[in-house]
Amino acid sequence: MVVTNQREQFATKLGFILAAVGSAVGLGNIWRFSYVAGESGGAAFLLIYVLCIFLIGLPVLLAEFSVGRRGQSDVVGSYNNIAPGKPWVIGGILGVLTSFLILSFYGVIAGWVVYYFFAYLTGQATGVGEGNYADFFVTFIGGAAAPVVWQVIFMALVLGIVFFGVKKGIELSNKIFMPLLAIILIFLAVYSLTLDGAGEGLAFLFTPDWSAFAEPGVWSSAVGQAFFTLSLGMGAMITYSSYLSREANLTTAAGSVVTLDTLFAIVAGIVIFPAVFTFANVEPDAGPGLIFIVLPEVFNQMGGAGTIFAIFFFFLVAIAALSSAISLLEVSVSYVMRQLNWNRRKATLLAGIAVTVFGIPSALSQGGPLTFEFFGLPFLDLIDTITDQYTLPLAGMIVALFVGWGWNQVDALKETGLTNSPFGVLWLWMLRIVAPIGIAWILFQNIFGA
Ligand code: PHE
Repeated sequence: MVVTNQREQFATKLGFILAAVGSAVGLGNIWRFSYVAGESGGAAFLLIYVLCIFLIGLPVLLAEFSVGRRGQSDVVGSYNNIAPGKPWVIGGILGVLTSFLILSFYGVIAGWVVYYFFAYLTGQATGVGEGNYADFFVTFIGGAAAPVVWQVIFMALVLGIVFFGVKKGIELSNKIFMPLLAIILIFLAVYSLTLDGAGEGLAFLFTPDWSAFAEPGVWSSAVGQAFFTLSLGMGAMITYSSYLSREANLTTAAGSVVTLDTLFAIVAGIVIFPAVFTFANVEPDAGPGLIFIVLPEVFNQMGGAGTIFAIFFFFLVAIAALSSAISLLEVSVSYVMRQLNWNRRKATLLAGIAVTVFGIPSALSQGGPLTFEFFGLPFLDLIDTITDQYTLPLAGMIVALFVGWGWNQVDALKETGLTNSPFGVLWLWMLRIVAPIGIAWILFQNIFGA
């Protein structure tokens, strides 16, 4: 087999930014953000979260972009190229592992979303009746076949796009998806603001209860959410930026991604919370079922308009999840291509099928035939906890320490174009001190805390 050494590249800088935004904006901004914010008191959480995004998320994102573009390889190869023979590569190995594990259950939850979209489109989800949506959800996710079928459908879409490569698959799809997402989201937000619960919903999201600042749990959820939503610690951003040309400015790219991702989460909150507060019998702290149980109850009470809202809403979430899943799969694909010297198609099939198969126990763990517990948790929750609370922050900490302390400072600054800028120095100190301490603290919380 002939393997060319020419690395694939994004055609344009905008294409790269859209792909990175596509990776960042996903289930994390809608499903996860809304339920975590709902559980952690709304506005106070939002404020702490934005703080974490700028203090830790932005510097670490810029660090990942620099490592990828300088390394010009997959996440393991990039570390090895910049620091050959050094232990920093552990960060890369953790990235491949974490992205694989996350995608295994991300595909399951995205499958639920695709199912809901179809169930609303075909009318199955409209005649369920008030108060019955919890049952509807539990029956669906506890099925012996349906969750796997929808997971496989979703994963097939992901594979299909990654198959076509960086320009024709990843870049092109994101160029279509991102504007589409923005339009649907704004349309839904405008509609939500006309609902009776708009005032209460906005107050929940924007009027902080200051006592929440003293709760360590809120801070650690905020840092965890910041990492997840910016796709950090999994090598996704390293892999994408390795396909970026030398001319593009990484600092503006990182700034754009962080800003758009944060705006997206806030506007998603403006879509969800007014709806949640419009009807008296629902609460914002329903947990992971918020968009699958609470919102459908709300849609049901809205009548016909609710069904249309639901169709657009689940379509939006499905597309957002798809563009994120693509970036997760690309981490493994790019690794397999280099490591085994395989072409893209073969690598996509291998990695895609492996991750889908590994996700099946998660799909069947929510009341289905594989509902037994490992270490006290159903399989999906176990994989979620391991990645979210341990491997992801750990890999993020390694990137921060590597760029802050391990990598030659002159090279790191050159890569970001911040050589003579005070922001360059600030960035390095954020990576040296602020981010590692913040991350170490949440790791400590996760290991020894409640
Ligand atoms: N950032 C994505 C989201 O918010 C999830 C994701 C994590 C995607 C890691 C890629 C890599 O849903």
